[in-house]
Amino acid sequence: MAALLLFVSLLTVLISLLYYISQRKFGYWEKRNVPYVKPLPLLGNYAKYMLQKQYPGQMLQELCKRFPDRSYFGAFFGTEPVLVVNSPEVVKDVFTKDFYYFNGREISDHVENEIITRNLFFASGDKWKVVRQNLTALFSSSKMKKMFYLLEKCNHSLEDMLTYETSKNNVIEARDLGARYTMDCICSCAFGVDSMVMGKETNNVFKTMAEQIFEASNTRGLKMILRAAWPSLFYGMKMQLFPSTIDEFFSKLLKGVFESRNHKPSPRNDFVDLVLTFKNEENLIGDSISNSKTGKDTKIKLKVDDDLLVAQCILFFAAGFETSATTISFTLFELAKNPAVQEKVIAEIDEYVARQKNKLEYECVNDLPYLDAAVYETLRMYPIFGILTREVMDDYQFADGVKVEKGLRVHIPVYHFHFNPDYFRDPEEYKPERFLPENKKDLKPYTFFPYGEGPRICIGSRFAKMQVMAGLITILKEYRVELGEDMPKSLNLDARTILIAPREQGLNIKFIRREGSEQRKWVRT
Ligand code: HEM
Repeated sequence: MAALLLFVSLLTVLISLLYYISQRKFGYWEKRNVPYVKPLPLLGNYAKYMLQKQYPGQMLQELCKRFPDRSYFGAFFGTEPVLVVNSPEVVKDVFTKDFYYFNGREISDHVENEIITRNLFFASGDKWKVVRQNLTALFSSSKMKKMFYLLEKCNHSLEDMLTYETSKNNVIEARDLGARYTMDCICSCAFGVDSMVMGKETNNVFKTMAEQIFEASNTRGLKMILRAAWPSLFYGMKMQLFPSTIDEFFSKLLKGVFESRNHKPSPRNDFVDLVLTFKNEENLIGDSISNSKTGKDTKIKLKVDDDLLVAQCILFFAAGFETSATTISFTLFELAKNPAVQEKVIAEIDEYVARQKNKLEYECVNDLPYLDAAVYETLRMYPIFGILTREVMDDYQFADGVKVEKGLRVHIPVYHFHFNPDYFRDPEEYKPERFLPENKKDLKPYTFFPYGEGPRICIGSRFAKMQVMAGLITILKEYRVELGEDMPKSLNLDARTILIAPREQGLNIKFIRREGSEQRKWVRT
């Protein structure tokens, strides 16, 4: 009996303690006189996402609709205060104008806990600035142009893969198809290796790595939420978001490529070459992030070690394929649903192929405005990140006098902006016309963020555009697409992943060979 009493008392103390901890920061917005939604204990205002019931972009959209006239409002991500930005003007301040104060992505103090998160995407402050400055050269348009011949070869393999796959079954899961193609592109252009992922062999080590990085499971979803909401607890309990097999694989891959190049940069001028240059120089030099505040010209030296290089390498692999594969597959899905749009896309592609005499060239990124607009429309409806995050890195005061401190989370509700009828009329409709060159002037600045905005904007957008446009041309010059038999027209989005993805079902697309497709095969030199 005494033991039971002790147990009940301990449990009561524990529950009271948890309740106290879960409520402790709930006065944050009240104190600052910022409107907010009354939070639930422990889960705050993000319950539907934290319980993996709703895609985070849509969850935040619902919250934003409660404050239509506020340029920002307060909320709680679990127990933690978060500022949600709700107007283009404040988005501009956060992304661009006052970037110095918002240069972190999230939980910046914890990114060194795993090798895989020690990369440009998660970095902040001086480290972010120096790495970004040193990597930017890799993505210039002249670099893209020079590496296009590698991408052209990947498109020949895509052509072959489609012939083989459609001969077995003409309904293909488009996410997998897109991933095999973009994985091949990034492996070839960034690392100089042939991934063989578009070959007939289904067992492929790059595919296995990809599955480990983007595992869509309840356990991974839960880990992501735990890490994002309570990082000290997460790492305190010795948890890791990613398995160490990923670091090990990429570490070995880089080492092998370095050796095959005799530890000297090659004429390929690719990512591995740049990394080799870093390795030989020992330090990366760049500007201090605080220069924009102080007006000084302070330089920062960042020591290069293997972990830093492996981390960027994994990032380029992960960011390089999954984002573009998602964009390709959702574009195919929308074209299958919208035959009139597909007709226009196909007409433009056929004209391009004829004009080019069946040779795919770098200029495809600029030569097909309607296809380009269709891809942008896909990115509006299926933004890779439904929420973009920033972290306050230095105490900040808004124009209206509200002060926020270092460490505060900031959420930009991308999905909400992209579906807001004030910015995009009939937002549920797929209308590429919005993004045609002559209509782009009607877009309100800071309402559309397919690649983010400001100094942290996607560094790989040129590469992305190149592989997405080329891949879609290769597919649609030979096939018309329709929805697979059981494929629903509207999708439930996955609540467990940060990157946008359909819940449960894949994107099953029927590939129907078009008349005259044999005459549109790529010439191979
Ligand atoms: C359609 C394809 C892609 C989309 C939609 C996309 C979108 C994005 C977005 C929204 C961000 C966050 C930007 C921000 O916080 O303001 C981002 C960051 C980033 N992306 Fe992409 N991305 C794509 C392809 C790529 C590719 C191909 C690469 C590399 C090969 C890449 C590398 C990166 C990196 C390194 C960052 C972090 C930049 C930083 O924090 O400084 N992305 N991307």
